[in-house]
Amino acid sequence: MGDVSPPKKQINLLRGWPHPSLLPTPAITAAANAALSNPSVSTPGLLYGPDPGYQPLREEIGSWLSRFFGGKADAERICITGGASQNLACVLQVFSDPTVTKVWMVAPCYFLACRIFDDAALEVRAVGEGKEGVDLEQLEKYLVTEDEKRDPKPQKIKLPKPWSKTYRHIIYCVPTFSNPSGKTMSLSCRQSLVRLARKHDALIITDDVYDFLQWPTSSLSSTSSMNKALLPRLVDVDRTLEPLPAEGSFGNAMSNGSFSKIAGPGVRTGWAEATPTFTYGLSQCGSSRSGGAPSQLTATIMCELLKSGDLEKHIEHTLCPAYKRRYEIMMKAIQQYLVPLGVTVGEVSFGDKEIFGGYFIWVELPKGVGAEKASLMAREEHGLIVAPGKIFEVANDESVKFENSIRLCFSWEEEADLEEGVKRLGKVVQEVVEGKSAPEKKDGGEIKNDLGEFR
Ligand SMILES: Cc1ncc(COP(=O)(O)O)c(C=O)c1O
Repeated sequence: MGDVSPPKKQINLLRGWPHPSLLPTPAITAAANAALSNPSVSTPGLLYGPDPGYQPLREEIGSWLSRFFGGKADAERICITGGASQNLACVLQVFSDPTVTKVWMVAPCYFLACRIFDDAALEVRAVGEGKEGVDLEQLEKYLVTEDEKRDPKPQKIKLPKPWSKTYRHIIYCVPTFSNPSGKTMSLSCRQSLVRLARKHDALIITDDVYDFLQWPTSSLSSTSSMNKALLPRLVDVDRTLEPLPAEGSFGNAMSNGSFSKIAGPGVRTGWAEATPTFTYGLSQCGSSRSGGAPSQLTATIMCELLKSGDLEKHIEHTLCPAYKRRYEIMMKAIQQYLVPLGVTVGEVSFGDKEIFGGYFIWVELPKGVGAEKASLMAREEHGLIVAPGKIFEVANDESVKFENSIRLCFSWEEEADLEEGVKRLGKVVQEVVEGKSAPEKKDGGEIKNDLGEFR
């Protein structure tokens, strides 16, 4: 008799999507009904929107962000977008020029942004995360060197426009609960980064898409402050750090916010926050001038969702407890099945705060256990999909590598399968340590080339 054991159920710890049970479908239904049954909302919702987006949503977002991050609500600083990815492309269209602008991506990076920079013909380089969230010393060296060799009178490809400017540098990072490393940049690093950006005419672009999803990692930590951000975003630091930016300036930081991780990626709606001058410039992007702000109808629905308080309730009462539970299951399994094999977990708390958040845990396999080989064995022989660190290297820059790292996502898979997934990874690590060779490569041996899987 041959082996009669049934094939293992596939477990996917790669996909960075919310589990379908965590989508606020009833609340979005109610919000859509409220929007569509009221002509004063549905009519503007079904027509072209103003360039910076649906004004009531700009105001709702302004007040909500001020409740969460502190600071004064100011709708003039907010522009409605089609989500973080779409907005990154628009920012580059308005504020960069390939002959002038260099991009510095903090690595490991949200690698799907690489394609967006490439579409804008921008050259991208990697900078390490260092201990605090970005290796400032390395970054400063790069900026200085780049500025020294810069052509003082470059032949810009784009014509100057009164609503825009061309930054010399763009620094891209995910400073809070990063995708992929889970790391959070310290406050002093945020302040130094803003100072550096001001000195070198850099625009810091942050994807602040996980900030609302946070929980205490220790029973000793108070949960009372969980509906307030623990750290200011870089855009908040740029707004408040002395010397304050001059009235009317473009500033040096833009926050990319999104409803993808807190409502659902399919809503394709988000917001940008920056100085009013920057926000106005962004709203003048050709595609918004022609089509009005993106996601106009959904913007009216998201506005109702915020106005009713349902989104904040969903985050506080459903998402944060669910992700906390999922995170704890995964961490316990990591302690049980991986740590004894020499696997280590990236830093999970910041400063003296025992807080974690987001979707991902970043682990380092023992030396000699390559993550690509392990993820191939996991997929081919154990029905487990994980993301090897190589995926999160900056495209075309080999200077910062992650050969031993794996990103584990706890948001997508069934809660009941998280432990089994980690257990299978433990089995793989054990096999590699014992010298088992990698399986025959099917379909080229790469993890399926469906980039959307890796978000
Ligand atoms: C860091 C980061 N930025 C952007 C996105 C995509 O955001 P959006 O759906 O708003 O385009 C993701 C999704 O995983 C992400 O992790």
